[in-house]
Amino acid sequence: MKKINAISLIAGLVLALSCSPKTVLPKSVEAVTSPNGNLEAQFLLYEDGTPAYMLNYDGKAVIKPSKLGYKLIGGNDLLKGFTLEGTQYRTIDETWEPVWGEEKEIRNNCSEMLVRLRREDGVAMNIRFRLYNDGLGFRYEFPQENKLTYFKVADELTQFALTGDHTAWWIPGDFDTQEYNYHHSRLSEIRRLNAVPRPYNAAQEVASDMSVQTSLQMKTDDGLYINIHEAGLLDYPATHLDLDDRNFIFTTLLTPDAQGVKGRLQAPCHSPWRTVQVCEKATDVLASRLILNLNEPCVLEDVSWIHPVKYMGVWWEMMTGRSHWSYTSDFPSIQLGVTDYSKAKPHGRHGAYNENVRMYIDFAAENGFDAILVEGWNEGWEDWFGCQKDYVFDFVTPYPDFDLPALNEYAHSKGIRIIMHHESSSSTVNYERHMEAAYNLMNQYGYDAVKSGYVGYIIPYGEHHYSQPIINHYHYAVLEAAKHHIMVNAHEAVRPTGLCRTWPNMIGNESAMGNEFRMDINPGHTCILPFTRLQGGPMDFTPGIFEQDMSITAPGETGKMRHTIGNQLGLYVTFYSPLQMAADLPQNYARFMDAFQFIKDVAVDWDKSLYLMAEPGEYIVTARHPNYKTLNSGRLKGTSSAYDFAHPGGREKDVWFVGGITGENAREVEIPLDFLKPGIVYEATLYADAPDADYETNPQAYEISHHLLSADSTLKVWMAHSGGFGLSLREK
Ligand code: NOJ
Ligand code: CA
Repeated sequence: MKKINAISLIAGLVLALSCSPKTVLPKSVEAVTSPNGNLEAQFLLYEDGTPAYMLNYDGKAVIKPSKLGYKLIGGNDLLKGFTLEGTQYRTIDETWEPVWGEEKEIRNNCSEMLVRLRREDGVAMNIRFRLYNDGLGFRYEFPQENKLTYFKVADELTQFALTGDHTAWWIPGDFDTQEYNYHHSRLSEIRRLNAVPRPYNAAQEVASDMSVQTSLQMKTDDGLYINIHEAGLLDYPATHLDLDDRNFIFTTLLTPDAQGVKGRLQAPCHSPWRTVQVCEKATDVLASRLILNLNEPCVLEDVSWIHPVKYMGVWWEMMTGRSHWSYTSDFPSIQLGVTDYSKAKPHGRHGAYNENVRMYIDFAAENGFDAILVEGWNEGWEDWFGCQKDYVFDFVTPYPDFDLPALNEYAHSKGIRIIMHHESSSSTVNYERHMEAAYNLMNQYGYDAVKSGYVGYIIPYGEHHYSQPIINHYHYAVLEAAKHHIMVNAHEAVRPTGLCRTWPNMIGNESAMGNEFRMDINPGHTCILPFTRLQGGPMDFTPGIFEQDMSITAPGETGKMRHTIGNQLGLYVTFYSPLQMAADLPQNYARFMDAFQFIKDVAVDWDKSLYLMAEPGEYIVTARHPNYKTLNSGRLKGTSSAYDFAHPGGREKDVWFVGGITGENAREVEIPLDFLKPGIVYEATLYADAPDADYETNPQAYEISHHLLSADSTLKVWMAHSGGFGLSLREK
């Protein structure tokens, strides 16, 4: 692993020369190989002191020689003139236990190479490489001993020079939102597809006409899966990737702040990790823990208050237009503390009123859920949207028809917690102003989780959702919440980069197009998300919409969502999230209680996960084994429905869940059950699309069948067009 050996050096240089005609020979090459020897990362330093790197898989280039460095505001760019001061190597091989996750233990095994660079003027910049069996992470480090202390970034110019016109699953670069459907195209089609007008979002800023967001999933013509993302994004802007489509070179495109600065740094500091995941099989992409491993271990000493949550919500009715977040139409504008709601005439469409909230509590309690989310409980929703209002909510004053103490007491008496909702309306200044009081209120009434939101353009004016000050805001909210023992699920915040390993009270994030986009969601979207958005951490996708026809959920509304009921069931196993919602209305579930049983039975936290078959955008089949330690944790009283399923008659049984989803193409899958405990018979319940199910013509057709199966069984399951299935297996 130390200095590169002669054969590998020649191979590397030949590659460098053959891949890029302009490449000149580097003056020095340092290299590191992955623990299994399949991947090799090389650091290259050219004659003029330009740093670069390349990545080979199985002796072939995955990333051709690619430059490293920064342009700084005020000159003094960090692009050349460096000499190699030294290189250090070490191996990391440790196993850690996540507080919650897809498995009990995660092995963090990589080869590390630290390259120390210095310029004659005393400017120091190190590059730390960590090479895993499934990919590379590298970051810039600016040590203390440095002529560079405070500096402003004009551009980070990290390149990813690809070997060809790969196929990619991508969303357009935007500094304010990731709520887009994915394109599936060749890299050479990005220019054309990025020129197509984008669907509206409450906050949007085109990053560039050639940019895409990370995590970016690609596939080479040789069938290799390559994914570019970042890990450990803190105190730094989020990056997109800007494509040179003649040479297929991506370059980092950082989000500017309100003054156009793309990072204000102070040594000692470091960038987030830049990651290139390389896998031969699509299922290995889903099994990869590269992003989590590159993050720091958990820093919270006491994590006993963090627990998985299965929840319902007074929410879908607002999303669909059946009811409203707001309370009255009396006021053209609201001034908190001045506007007197007690004198207002309710418009009669408010969703979060006492009786309705109690109905949800009752339904959730009867069905063994842990919590309900209630949105629209607090004053200010009459003019929260589109006004870019600074003082928009105070997060502590309920509407007159929401009796906060009484509802919490009622919920707790039934073993249900209410999940707090803080829509910041993207006024991060206002949220920070009220955060302490808002978290204190939660502590006072026993709320232990908050869903926050960042709809609309950011205040401070001119900032973006992914600029450095706002990245710092999201982090501040999580740290402050941890002090109050509060778990956070932020919507519209930056896409996760594995920080939940370090701060596991980050139990959820939206940060992609979730079910709330209803009819806009393309079939197959959910077969891409685990390869992209979910690489960085769990998603509050809000699955479980059984009623696709909006006119039934919300009379007067139109449109039909494009999935089958079987598809929605499959999502509970496909999408890992320790915070999992049954998003539809209780009255919609009441019409399909036999299918709803799967949502009740399924666990949300796992000690083992197996990715049985997958192809981005096409299909995914996953099997998971519950984490028995957390099946019932965090409950106020009683047992969860998932716990009950695994303990029939009070006796613990071995259980597994399998979920499948498919996109545009219906398909049959054959699932070998060799992961089951040998010699044991399992009672299996299959919730599958009926033979005549189809998202367009017959989306609610499902069949529930019962089987006795064992480790030597193979199950054939049919998935309809945008369909799927859920399968529960319990030791007999
Ligand atoms: C956007 C969130 O994603 C959604 O779930 C929420 O209901 C609205 N904002 C209102 O806060
Ligand atoms: Ca959203």
